[in-house]
Amino acid sequence: MGFSERQETLVKESWAVMKEDIPNLSVYLYEMILEIAPEVRGLFSFLKDTNELPKNNPKLKSHAVKVFKMVCEAAIQLREKGEVVITGSTLKYLGSVHLQKGIVDPQFEVVKEALIRTVEKAMGEKCSEEMKDAWREAYDHLAAAVKNEMKQEA
Ligand code: HEM
Repeated sequence: MGFSERQETLVKESWAVMKEDIPNLSVYLYEMILEIAPEVRGLFSFLKDTNELPKNNPKLKSHAVKVFKMVCEAAIQLREKGEVVITGSTLKYLGSVHLQKGIVDPQFEVVKEALIRTVEKAMGEKCSEEMKDAWREAYDHLAAAVKNEMKQEA
């Protein structure tokens, strides 16, 4: 069973809503990451020397948006091609950044759970299990591509 058109639509629909509230949802993603795994704070340059969650921090926002947007792009690719294909330099960059930071598999799960909670927050009553599952599946494929590249580069 591949990624369906309906799943793609659910992810695209929620990303369209999330896009309208990036400053708040970026901070919320990090609140959730730190609630689940406070120990990851030290990995992020913009968190390691503070006990606060910086509002309007460009790096915080950039990472959150990359995660949201690349999962949405992964959903589109999964439906169109049945797999996630990230082009050469982007993939190399993603691989090397996370390898250098020493990101490990359980941390990918932390970000996934935080992402799902962020989708729930953004969509409120419109959020459904089906919607969350579509995000989970797209995220898993994207994360697998990044992890695979990390292995190649290690
Ligand atoms: C940096 C994307 C998952 C931790 C980056 C960068 C990108 C990126 C593009 C470069 C800096 C930027 O543009 O913001 C992604 C995507 C992910 C993902 C698409 C989804 C699969 C994760 C996970 C962790 C993580 C699971 C673990 C907690 C980091 C850290 C940096 C980084 C610590 C350096 C940020 C800094 O200190 O400025 N990521 N990432 N990322 N990522 Fe990820």
